[in-house]
Amino acid sequence: MRVLGLYGSPRKGGNTDILLDEFLRGCEEKGATCERIRVARLQVGGCRGCGGCEKTGRCVVEDDMQAVYEALEKSDRVVLAAPIYFYNVPAQAKAVIDRTQALWTRKYIREEAAQGAAAGPDRRGFFIGVGATRGKRLFDGTLQTMRYFFDAIDVEYAGTLVYGEVDEEGAIRNHPTAMKECFETGLKLVSST
Ligand SMILES: Cc1cc2nc3c(=O)[nH]c(=O)nc-3n(C[C@H](O)[C@H](O)[C@H](O)COP(=O)(O)O)c2cc1C
Repeated sequence: MRVLGLYGSPRKGGNTDILLDEFLRGCEEKGATCERIRVARLQVGGCRGCGGCEKTGRCVVEDDMQAVYEALEKSDRVVLAAPIYFYNVPAQAKAVIDRTQALWTRKYIREEAAQGAAAGPDRRGFFIGVGATRGKRLFDGTLQTMRYFFDAIDVEYAGTLVYGEVDEEGAIRNHPTAMKECFETGLKLVSST
């Protein structure tokens, strides 16, 4: 079982990093192999909307996204953790999401065989989110983005853990349930079939 953890915050050691570490610790405890990618360290430009991927199934832009495509395709589980920035994920993570348009194109335009076939048919995605405010609709836009992201990369959207009213770096450690929930959900995500 291979798990890809995408660290979506530019703040190293921040709240979503802490939660994803816990989540992946749970996955590893069940014997999964975890690959960790810190998205903000990559050089990934935005999608150019050029339609090049419709011709070949590959993105024409040669940057760090090429390594992310490879990692996505060989993973059985994809876990993205990101803070809310202006009611969506930070720009660096959004660039990665937009660039999965090449995978969307393979699935829906080119109708190529399921991606990640090497990893098997049971592929799942999970989102962990944190925001500072307490609004009821804080995560609405992002969760909609996640539905389409996981669909584009051809994994079943297995769930979400989101936490509002968390702002200061590391404040999530004081949350009454978040750390335990992430660890336990990591255990479950790799053990359930
Ligand atoms: C540029 C920027 C935009 C933000 N936008 C929002 C927002 O729209 N809603 C919100 O609740 N919090 C917002 N926040 C707060 C972060 O979501 C919050 O600090 C979070 O805990 C950061 O997580 P991290 O430590 O994993 O980076 C914003 C923070 C920054 C730096």
